[in-house]
Amino acid sequence: MSNIWDKIYSDASAFFGEDPSDFAQKCYNYFKKYGVKRTLELGCGQGRDTIFFASNGIDVEALDYSVIAVDILDKIRKEKSLPIKPGIFDAKSPFAIQDSFFDAVYSHMLLNMRFSLKQLHFIFSEIKRAYYIFRLEVIRMFCITKGKKLITIFMK
Ligand SMILES: C[S@@+](CC[C@H](N)C(=O)[O-])C[C@H]1O[C@@H](n2cnc3c(N)ncnc32)[C@H](O)[C@@H]1O
Repeated sequence: MSNIWDKIYSDASAFFGEDPSDFAQKCYNYFKKYGVKRTLELGCGQGRDTIFFASNGIDVEALDYSVIAVDILDKIRKEKSLPIKPGIFDAKSPFAIQDSFFDAVYSHMLLNMRFSLKQLHFIFSEIKRAYYIFRLEVIRMFCITKGKKLITIFMK
């Protein structure tokens, strides 16, 4: 196994459950309000939020560094004919994405992983590269160092 997440996702076909996160559901309201059509999702895992967005008409390029998770998501995409483009990436390296292409960048519980401040700066600079027009950025950081406090950042 290349990483701990591969192991986790191999052991459970829907580790975080089948339903979309509450955060995805809230963000979807913003997506509708701002007419978001193309979303880049970072750290999609097995795709519970990806599937929700795509089932509601949003094209999602969904990236994660777990090969197992991306394979699972790719199978679901094919079975359900959903507008999802799954791919492998490591957030610490330049994202292999088309510049200025996405209406929104969405990420749920990725940035709380072990990233240094320098790496977080890098990730945000890559995120900025993804936008077509600076429209909507929704990121939830689950801040373990502050107990179970959830911090939600909305930027427009
Ligand atoms: C807490 S899970 C959240 C998964 C999904 N967003 C969800 O809410 O169901 C964090 C995800 O980030 C991915 N991840 C962790 N470090 C990463 C990195 N450096 N680059 C890309 N993905 C990473 C893991 O593989 C995992 O799927």
